[in-house]
Amino acid sequence: MRCAVCKKKAEVYLPHHNLALCREDFIRFFHKRIKKAVDDFKMFSEEDKLLVAVSGGKDSLSLWDSLLKMGYNADGLFIHLGIGDFSKRAFEIVKEFSENRKAELIIINIKDEFGGKTLPELVETTKGVPCKVCGKIKRYFFDRIALKENYDVLLTGHNLDDEAAFLLGNIFNWNIEYLAKQSPALPEEDGFKKKAKPLIYLTEREIAIYSFFNNIKYNELSCPFSKKAKSHLYKESLHQMELSLKGLRIKFYKGFLRNRKLFEKAEKNYTLKPCKICGYPTSSEICGVCKIKIKAEVSEGEK
Ligand code: AMP
Ligand code: FES
Ligand code: ZN
Repeated sequence: MRCAVCKKKAEVYLPHHNLALCREDFIRFFHKRIKKAVDDFKMFSEEDKLLVAVSGGKDSLSLWDSLLKMGYNADGLFIHLGIGDFSKRAFEIVKEFSENRKAELIIINIKDEFGGKTLPELVETTKGVPCKVCGKIKRYFFDRIALKENYDVLLTGHNLDDEAAFLLGNIFNWNIEYLAKQSPALPEEDGFKKKAKPLIYLTEREIAIYSFFNNIKYNELSCPFSKKAKSHLYKESLHQMELSLKGLRIKFYKGFLRNRKLFEKAEKNYTLKPCKICGYPTSSEICGVCKIKIKAEVSEGEK
């Protein structure tokens, strides 16, 4: 097969675009897909100070790599969760990535914030669901750091497969409030900085190819808590359907983006006010993370 752009030997074939590309043109295609998402949803501009939440996985590292190559002013934020070898490896990889590119990296260690406790220990003491506790803590630090360090936009590496699976789950459960909030870009409001997901037009496979072509080392270990997550089931079902219905996933997701307004009425049937302890916007008196701290019997003084 020949590259559709330069006619050199193609190295990849992208079925849902019916497109064969050589390595260089694939990398250009990848950056263009990011730029398209950025423009379609007015995510940010060249002047903005960006903070990329990097997990050590291929999605967020490919995003950070792309933004740096595209000339954006993008720093990284890594949350060290203390989940055994998984977090250790992630930390090594993210640190090496930032050092190689001389890019700024902010590191938050859960142990420093919760009186020496790691995420598994917090889950144990609070009797919480691991991914829920983890998600709450991660979102909290994404928001707090973006605000405190005065970044314009906080970016995550959610891709098309993630967003389509999340959408399917929200529809199966008729979770209208989540559907209303599921957006590629959320504006700055209520003490939160703007948030965006520039990889929404790229699939997991395309990101894997990008990381391979660019020699991006990423964490091959998966989180020991994530095995039973329902989102994997939704993702897998969509993969299966995509095999016979090419382009189904992007059509499904783009259709939702066009019709998002239908759900907007459901948005915000609650008001946010500052947490009495830390000031983070919350719908109750005390925010979820401060509640975790209290449950885990971590006093502010222990920090
Ligand atoms: P996940 O919820 O694990 O699917 O991750 C979704 C996105 O959140 C990733 O693409 C990253 O942008 C970000 N993220 C996940 N884990 C971390 C972490 N430990 N530190 C910083 N960012 C993270
Ligand atoms: Fe959060 Fe696995 S990364 S529970
Ligand atoms: Zn709080």
